[in-house]
Amino acid sequence: KKNIYTLAIESSCDDTSAAVLCNDKVLSNIVARQSIHEEYGGVVPELASRAHQQNIVPVIDVAIKKAGISKEELDCISFTQGPGLMGSLLVGGSFAKSMSMALNIPLIAVNHMKAHILAHFIDEEGFEKPTFPFLALTISGGHTQIVQVNSFFDLKIIGETTDDAVGEAFDKSAKILGLPYPGGPLIDKYANEGNPKAYKFTKPKVDGLNFSFSGLKTQILYFIQKSVATNPNFIEENRNDICASIQYTIITILMDKLKSAVTQTGINRIAIGGGVSANSGIRKTLKEAENKYGWTTYIPKFEYTTDNAAMIGIVGYYNFLENNFSKNTIVSKARIEF
Ligand code: KG4
Ligand code: ZN
Repeated sequence: KKNIYTLAIESSCDDTSAAVLCNDKVLSNIVARQSIHEEYGGVVPELASRAHQQNIVPVIDVAIKKAGISKEELDCISFTQGPGLMGSLLVGGSFAKSMSMALNIPLIAVNHMKAHILAHFIDEEGFEKPTFPFLALTISGGHTQIVQVNSFFDLKIIGETTDDAVGEAFDKSAKILGLPYPGGPLIDKYANEGNPKAYKFTKPKVDGLNFSFSGLKTQILYFIQKSVATNPNFIEENRNDICASIQYTIITILMDKLKSAVTQTGINRIAIGGGVSANSGIRKTLKEAENKYGWTTYIPKFEYTTDNAAMIGIVGYYNFLENNFSKNTIVSKARIEF
């Protein structure tokens, strides 16, 4: 059987990424990060789309060169249709369409959130692919979902956030502590040196398998304001303990819902995806759940957790095998049905 070469483009938020896959193996996965947003304390959509325009040609060029193939050998082009920032999505989407037309090869539109989950099917030494059905916990800067995955094409959201995403909970807490954006990785770093039980935050009460994180953020804000009023050096003196306690609360909220999801569905295979799954506390807690609850857990390779084009490519590849192609009139969508 012939090898299938897929070019993938991801431009949903602030990273411009291109990847080339040979079947389910990644030949290259290039990510150009945009540091411009750091000084604004969050992603500025207008600046993100401009940076995508600047980066997209060189990033795709490098991805194809690094893969060691010529663009004429490509079999299909997959791209992120949504969800994401409209201006950012349009850059990748328009580029993918033009390239598919110029090379006369099929175009495949991919849902970013499904790609975070199906990234687990990238063939990677030392990483096992999940067995269907399994539960996926997708945690990123924009989303928090528990998804029941029955096959590559049958994914059902069974729980999601009613307000902020987990990544926002991390980033907004970090901002309250005066840490730069994105603060998630920094909270993770300081938490490693702190006592997770030093401060107690109450967990939100939310129905079913849904999540809520905005209350936690407000609670942390009031707690910090009150503590700083009596001791101006409170944050500096207790940074590790504060971060460890915040992270512990977030992990407990996630684990409680995962336990309910396992009970409800009878499925005890758990895969995580999305930028926040880079968190070392979450990774450790999930690993421990294998012995503690008898779960099988799947934790992806670090470079496939945060936004990247390889995950768009693997979804493209499986759609290519089924001849699931997109029309060239397809449009980018900031919000998209699952
Ligand atoms: O998936 P992603 O790269 O972009 C989105 O689609 O949102 O996720 C980015 C999010 C940010 O909120 C960032 O703070 C968070 O992932 N993040 C982390 C860690 N690494 C990235 N949060 C906690 N601990 C980390 N180690
Ligand atoms: Zn993402």
